[in-house]
Amino acid sequence: MNQKIIIEGGRKLKGEVTISGAKNAALKLMAAALILDDTCEIYNVPELTDVSTMAKLLQTLGAKVDYDKNEKKITINSENIDNVEAHYDFVSKMRASFIVLGSLLGRFHEAKVALPGGCSIGERRIDLHIKGLESLGAQIKIEGGYVIAKAKKLTGAKIYLDRPSVGATENILLAAVLAEGSTVLSNAAQEPEIIDLANFLNAMGADISGAGTSEIIINGVRQKDLKPLSYTTIPDRIEAGTYISAIMATRGKAIIRNIFPNHLSAVISKVIEMGGKISVLDPFSIEVACNGKPNAVNIVTQPYPGFPTDLQSPFISALAVAEGVSIVTENLYENRFRQMGELTRMGADVQQESNKAIIKGVRSLTGAQLIAPDLRAGVALIIAGLCADGVSEITDIHHVDRGYEKIIEKFSALGANIKRVDSEDNNIDAMINNMDETIF
Ligand code: EPZ
Repeated sequence: MNQKIIIEGGRKLKGEVTISGAKNAALKLMAAALILDDTCEIYNVPELTDVSTMAKLLQTLGAKVDYDKNEKKITINSENIDNVEAHYDFVSKMRASFIVLGSLLGRFHEAKVALPGGCSIGERRIDLHIKGLESLGAQIKIEGGYVIAKAKKLTGAKIYLDRPSVGATENILLAAVLAEGSTVLSNAAQEPEIIDLANFLNAMGADISGAGTSEIIINGVRQKDLKPLSYTTIPDRIEAGTYISAIMATRGKAIIRNIFPNHLSAVISKVIEMGGKISVLDPFSIEVACNGKPNAVNIVTQPYPGFPTDLQSPFISALAVAEGVSIVTENLYENRFRQMGELTRMGADVQQESNKAIIKGVRSLTGAQLIAPDLRAGVALIIAGLCADGVSEITDIHHVDRGYEKIIEKFSALGANIKRVDSEDNNIDAMINNMDETIF
């Protein structure tokens, strides 16, 4: 049954929220578990639909996967992998599935993985993944919508990425772990999720250095050097940044727990520029406070350590009620302002000009019926609903459930008036379909 979120806005967020494990790290650790012909345990794995999709994909490959909801622990045994094909059903649901390509190719020297194609937020090319894997010695062809990769053996190579793609860095890293000799990956992505993947692989017995810088060195090891491991996923910096933007939008004051504040440096400095106050309470917690209307600011998205593209949509909701004019420049994706039309329906003064959003702060937004267009644009609408006057109803929230664990519970604990209900849209659709045609 479809569900929707109903929010009565206008309450300042107060209290505290604990951040879950990082979706975009956990999914890659799960894919990396395919390299090991034994068992690994991963803790701090959030209960999300994307995690469940990845678990199902690993099962179709022959892995045993068990998720303990209470402990947030996923146990994966990849001893008996008997299939190297990642079906389109999985990859079309969740692009992160494409990362099994590097693991399968690295361990079995063959893989057949559905091509993700473009997606709602942009073209999302994979040319750098392919070039990198070919440099390691793989023969790759594209046939029937699948990437078919084979290698007699994989050999370390010097690889330069034309841009620091997160996914290409991960696929190359995964394939190079068991390659013969050393791989030097230049202009690599530097995201904390890349460091987490390298730490996980090193804990498994890989030999990787430089993760978190633009040059990563992977010295190939043998399968028998790899061993079972227990590992804890890093906190989700994007989830943390989302709650921070919601506190700014509602002019609240709340504590964010279980974070690595240094992963949020670009975000924290923007919040300060917006007039927010940040207090570091301990190495894993900060307090965010916004007294009065936030200031308008300009944001430019960049690969890490720049301001993350995944957070520009939530911040646009806060800037929609800021003092003055903000410009948000999106440099990674072609189509990442998908909530702008819905914000306009709430009374926001927002306009898109090519890769820029121009946001003139208004006094207040008003609640409306809204459709979540994708994960981050969807959560942006929730934030807009939280600071708006009146009631908002947001449908298509399955997008949001892909990336935000217990979002209703977490916003409720911060004092929001928010609930999830079964959607009656289907009934309305049925009603419209059954209407007497003569009306038209
Ligand atoms: C990861 O996507 C994240 N997804 C994204 O988060 C995030 O927005 C992105 O990194 C950037 O931080 C996961 O980790 C599952 P990229 P990824 O390869 O790996 C171009 C979310 O909301 N490019 O760095 O796909 C590409 O077209 C998601 O959680 C090429 O041109 O990101 C895009 O414009 C959305 N050729 C840009 O680089 C390539 O071969 C960034 O892509 C690869 C990428």
